[in-house]
Amino acid sequence: MMHFCSALILILVTTVCSYRIGAGKSDITGPVVQVMLMGYAEMGQTGQGILQRLWARSFIVQDGDNRIVFVNTDTQSMGDIIKKRVINTLETRYGALYTEKNVMISSTHSHSGMGGYLQYTLYEFAALGWIEETVKPMVDGIVQSIINAHDNLEFGSLALSQGELLKTNINRSPQAYLMNPKEERSFYKYDVDKTMTVLGFKNEAGDDLGLISWFAVHGVSVNNTNKLVNGDNKGYAAYLTEKMVNSGKYSHGKFVAAFSQSNEGDVSPNTLGAFCTGSDTPCDGTRDSKCPNGSRCVGRGPAWPKSDLQSNRIIGENQAFKALELYHARMSAQQVHGKIDFVQRYWDITKAIVTDQNGDQHKLCYPAMGYAFAAGTTDGPALNGFYQNTTKGTFGWNLIKNIIQKPTESQKTCQSPKPILLDTGEIGTLHPWQPEILDIQLFRIGNVFIYAVPSEFTTMSGRRLRASIKKSLIQHQLGDQDTVVIHSGPANGYASYCTTFEEYQHQRYEGASTPYGPHTLQAYIDAFDQLVFMMAHPNNHSIKSEKLPDYTKQGFNFSPRYRSDQPHIFRSFGEVIQDVSPYYSKRTQSTPFVVSATFVAGNPRNDPMLGKTFLTVEKKVNNQWIVIRTDNDYDTRFIWKYTYQLLGMSEAKVEWHISNDIEPGIYRLGYMGNSRAAFSKKIVPHSGYSSEFEISNMY
Ligand SMILES: *[C@@H]1O[C@H](CO)[C@@H](O)[C@H](O)[C@H]1NC(C)=O
Ligand SMILES: *[C@@H]1O[C@H](CO)[C@@H](O)[C@H](O)[C@H]1NC(C)=O
Ligand SMILES: *[C@@H]1O[C@H](CO)[C@@H](O)[C@H](O)[C@H]1NC(C)=O
Ligand SMILES: *[C@@H]1O[C@H](CO)[C@@H](O)[C@H](O)[C@H]1NC(C)=O
Repeated sequence: MMHFCSALILILVTTVCSYRIGAGKSDITGPVVQVMLMGYAEMGQTGQGILQRLWARSFIVQDGDNRIVFVNTDTQSMGDIIKKRVINTLETRYGALYTEKNVMISSTHSHSGMGGYLQYTLYEFAALGWIEETVKPMVDGIVQSIINAHDNLEFGSLALSQGELLKTNINRSPQAYLMNPKEERSFYKYDVDKTMTVLGFKNEAGDDLGLISWFAVHGVSVNNTNKLVNGDNKGYAAYLTEKMVNSGKYSHGKFVAAFSQSNEGDVSPNTLGAFCTGSDTPCDGTRDSKCPNGSRCVGRGPAWPKSDLQSNRIIGENQAFKALELYHARMSAQQVHGKIDFVQRYWDITKAIVTDQNGDQHKLCYPAMGYAFAAGTTDGPALNGFYQNTTKGTFGWNLIKNIIQKPTESQKTCQSPKPILLDTGEIGTLHPWQPEILDIQLFRIGNVFIYAVPSEFTTMSGRRLRASIKKSLIQHQLGDQDTVVIHSGPANGYASYCTTFEEYQHQRYEGASTPYGPHTLQAYIDAFDQLVFMMAHPNNHSIKSEKLPDYTKQGFNFSPRYRSDQPHIFRSFGEVIQDVSPYYSKRTQSTPFVVSATFVAGNPRNDPMLGKTFLTVEKKVNNQWIVIRTDNDYDTRFIWKYTYQLLGMSEAKVEWHISNDIEPGIYRLGYMGNSRAAFSKKIVPHSGYSSEFEISNMY
């Protein structure tokens, strides 16, 4: 197939296999300390350093005058304003080449990245604000990844393959899933999607350029006690895949692997199920299975009880290996060729009116969150005293919530059976608490269609929307039975969850967190019908786009300020406070064992060090120090803390978790940071090294 294709390229450059394709990545890590991590809304879960860096990975597919850009980011979700700022920056560089219509920005849904990039009040509370310090490197990094992909554009081909990946995800709200009609469920073997879809990129010469994989599983393998920034299971999968391919003999070292999210709303990586902490009593987060004695209902990853980082590694590895297997399965892969197209719209979901099976019309609701929203999930329980599957409010909370905002009768009816806890759509104070205008988008690459939604869709909601879009594409002669439709989300913005109408009745966490009421999914289905119509009738402008509001000037920021730095008394920045031992024997240590050193530091917020590193592990080879690890590696940790906050004195600990496959030799640990003196704006870099140490196999 490959040869046939390249032979044709020589003759017919513009008709077959004529895409120009490019992949690129760039660092988007923001402030790694003192800022709340985004996802669990766990007070006190503020950053203390880095486990792995966060990345944007971009892919461009161009066919003549048409091109699309797909970006995947190691984030909990994408900010609508982040996308807007990315487009504005690209416009100054490329004119009208990249717009909100042909750029899609998706997220891995990692719950271990820094927060502060969502402009609506509810999500600002979840991260203590709108934090420009997080926003700037995120925008810069995404833009840079697109520039890199743009600069890498070359002729090449795309192939699509799909396969089943087991033991990597389960449904965390199976009771809600069971509310869906039996006939519909009988159509599927599992209560979550086990299919991974991979789009593979190769250049004309057959070199491996990159891949995008889609697989539905929450980014919550690393739990809500973690304080080191990282990309969770998909971040690890991308790291591992790129490492495996780029260290290979035939690699040009620039392979980019994106692990994108799909309909993961009710899908957990905690594959062993949920149990009351401290016991083996199964639970599901409802009042019926209430955990005794203050213990909590928490899901267990595959490595339980070892550690959540080990579970994260397994869930990441499973996805990495499957994606590479599918990428290399060229025989079963479907070559992708044909038209590139795209449509996008800012859509006001609260203005949507849907018609149900009985012909009755329903207007979508202004946003509101139910009681079970406060319960959290078995992947990260939130407030004590709240339970999933709650359809009745409780007296005390009803009182409190009425002080914030008493829902109107029409809002109560609209949201029913959801007992409203937070009437976000009717709160008059502060700026809007949840979005009403959503960025929805549909890409076409030949017979492959990728759509973006800002909501976290449950398994069955995603299945219904995909099926409906396919049907619509066929009706408009844009697709056929072989058309593949891919769900990518949360993307382009964030709007909490979307369940089916039936699941909504059960009011587990996902239903309670579906802000626009029971008909949310149907509204999405109708809106995508319209997008397909727009794609089929490009000259018909009867369907209008709204204007995206920008509330960032009204945002608040409760993340702590930070002050100038001072080295410890009689010391200088980068000096070693606690050194390594001179000698470590792998025989006497049980692996992995940890070698660490502590340094006099400056606050890492002085400079997020995009594309650089706060630490190194170096090996002595021929009397030269060679860097073998950075702060992006999974076996290193960069941990920072104030020792005397009032004086601005701090220290950084560099850890290396050494496994059995590390070769004997002479090593050292390095630390790189920045400081700012009092009354100065100037950021001054510094660095320091531990003493050298020997790792040996012998006694
Ligand atoms: C709960 O605590 C009580 C009193 O400390 C104890 O008797 C009981 O066994 C505990 N129950 C469980 C399930 O641990
Ligand atoms: C989270 O992970 C840590 C480290 O693996 C573990 O000690 C802790 O028990 C976990 N917490 C919960 C609630 O599972
Ligand atoms: C909660 O779920 C149980 C089944 O697990 C069901 O019997 C009960 O009706 C549900 N309660 C509500 C209030 O929906
Ligand atoms: C656009 O499409 C709508 C809906 O099908 C139709 O009513 C209208 O006449 C069309 N307008 C044009 C200019 O084709």
